[in-house]
Amino acid sequence: MVPSRLLSSLLALPVLAFFSLSASALPRPRTASSTAALKLAVRINSYGIKNIAAADRARIQVLQAGGSASVNATNTVTTYTASIGVGSPATYYTLLVDTGSSNTWIGGNKAYTQTTASRDTLNKFKVPYADGSSVSGEEYTDTVTLNSDLVIENQSIGVASKTSGMGGLDGIFGLGPADLTQGIVDDAYEVATVMDNLYTQKQISSEVLGVFFAPASSDDSSGELTFGSYDASKITGSINYVPITSAYPANTFWGINQSIRYGSTPILDETAGIVDTGTTLILIASDAFNLYQSATGATLDKTTGLLQISPDQYEQLSSLYFTIGGITYELTPNGQIWPRSLNSAIGGTTDNIYLVVSDSGDSSGSGLDFTNGYCFLERFYSVYDTTNS
Ligand SMILES: *[C@@H]1O[C@H](CO)[C@@H](O)[C@H](O)[C@H]1NC(C)=O
Ligand SMILES: *[C@@H]1O[C@H](CO)[C@@H](O)[C@H](O)[C@H]1NC(C)=O
Ligand SMILES: *[C@@H]1O[C@H](CO)[C@@H](O)[C@H](O)[C@H]1NC(C)=O
Repeated sequence: MVPSRLLSSLLALPVLAFFSLSASALPRPRTASSTAALKLAVRINSYGIKNIAAADRARIQVLQAGGSASVNATNTVTTYTASIGVGSPATYYTLLVDTGSSNTWIGGNKAYTQTTASRDTLNKFKVPYADGSSVSGEEYTDTVTLNSDLVIENQSIGVASKTSGMGGLDGIFGLGPADLTQGIVDDAYEVATVMDNLYTQKQISSEVLGVFFAPASSDDSSGELTFGSYDASKITGSINYVPITSAYPANTFWGINQSIRYGSTPILDETAGIVDTGTTLILIASDAFNLYQSATGATLDKTTGLLQISPDQYEQLSSLYFTIGGITYELTPNGQIWPRSLNSAIGGTTDNIYLVVSDSGDSSGSGLDFTNGYCFLERFYSVYDTTNS
């Protein structure tokens, strides 16, 4: 087993600004071969989420308790999905991309088609949801195809017999560290993740994943995973590597240290938290959230659970600065507001201005004091490097 959590590091670097990102018609050279890239599709949830902040908080409270939790897809607004082949010949399944969990499983919607490559391990698996229920079924090994060129043999995958909350998706593509697979599959201490096997089966030369999400409200809501490297055409500036945080429980995830200030006002001193594609918002500890709320003058909207500001307050809004490994990333006022075209998807009022920074529900010092979710990752390219520490 690769002790991924100790060897891992996360690097995050600013990409071009919001509009430059979506307006790009430039050629896109890659450092990795283009076959190592997997296009993502974005889905805008139409399940009519009530209180997105409470839904995000419920997931994070499970993670704060040191557990793994499956994403409830009916509770995320913008969901990035990848089409993953299982079996030989492959049947393709639409899976939610999740860096906050590490088991890959199917069976949520489309039935599992077995082939001669499919082997039943006779072990049961069970992944909890934040609401106390779980997805469960049988663990198989099978051939997994990420695109026509990246083929993994004997990948451990769950085949769910009991699932809920997947909103028409087939399952989860787990991209978290291997330690999060502990306790999920009977009779297996850990299972090798898709990333682990890509590396050990020499499909990629470094266990590195690049994650590119475009803002969901833009015209070009594309996303892309790059295996074995990152896509140099999607970033500017130099790479900032930081080690995985030493603080538990953030260190069992893609956990980093970060401090946050609003304009020149400190909001959160350097502390540990996580980067998570399975969370919609940016969640921060309650004490930090209170400072942010008073600095912005926002009021809490009961319907969406989000902070709300007036157009005048928006004009006065300062940037929010995230400092990671000594490098500061600026989330502009525009980056701090929920895309208004998606207000109805969260039960909001059309012209209202909601903020994407929300309360984690716990005071700082929990060992998981922030979660940089989609609303952060749509603005900054992130690279997850297990091999190069
Ligand atoms: C997959 O499992 C089969 C049967 O146990 C074995 O023959 C094969 O070598 C394995 N492939 C890899 C890449 O481990
Ligand atoms: C998913 O979220 C919905 C909406 O909050 C809730 O009704 C449902 O019980 C949740 N399902 C699971 C499995 O967590
Ligand atoms: C990160 O923050 C935690 C919690 O404040 C601290 O214990 C640790 O020393 C910091 N540095 C690293 C590299 O984890």
